[in-house]
Amino acid sequence: AIAFAMAAFGGYLLGSIPFGLVLTRMAGLGDIREIGSKNIGATNVLRTGRKDLAAATLVLDAAKAGIAALIFWWLLGYEAGLVAGGAAFLGHCFPVWLNFKGGKGVATFFGTILAVAWPVGVLAALVWIGMALLMRMSSLSALVAAAAAPVIAYAFDKPGVALLSLFLAVLIYWRHRANIARILAGEEPRIGRKPA
Ligand code: G3P
Repeated sequence: AIAFAMAAFGGYLLGSIPFGLVLTRMAGLGDIREIGSKNIGATNVLRTGRKDLAAATLVLDAAKAGIAALIFWWLLGYEAGLVAGGAAFLGHCFPVWLNFKGGKGVATFFGTILAVAWPVGVLAALVWIGMALLMRMSSLSALVAAAAAPVIAYAFDKPGVALLSLFLAVLIYWRHRANIARILAGEEPRIGRKPA
């Protein structure tokens, strides 16, 4: 129990570093929470026109969760790694530093799954890329990939990862509720274009 509490606390702290906000602020772009979808994630950083910062946000947000999972897996065992990755996702979505108003969890979802079951993470990422090429909507790609991940994990005989990714996928849907409404209304902006 102590091991899981440590993994949860450490994962949450790492996950709560809002790289999208920090990088855009350092670049003098103002507050990302007032631009585009107002989200702190890589997709919204891309709407500033800075592809480099968007890529860095994606990599760093994924890495903080993946590193949290790997550290606690190594220190306290595989299940502690799952807890730390899940906690990093929660830290990103609900960071104490930003009044618990954080991101939508897509990069931290992929970082966690890549760290704890990389073939599952690679396949889920391919689902994201395939959907993005087809439909050009970051949110829709994330929603489809998030739904696919628990199924892929189950198929790879990773029940712990299947359960974790199912839990995180539900939260991803909840965090994307405004996106879902826009997708259904045909108003979700396409990748590479500014929101209407
Ligand atoms: O990573 C979040 C993405 O799925 C949607 O972002 O900014 O279009 O709401 P955004």
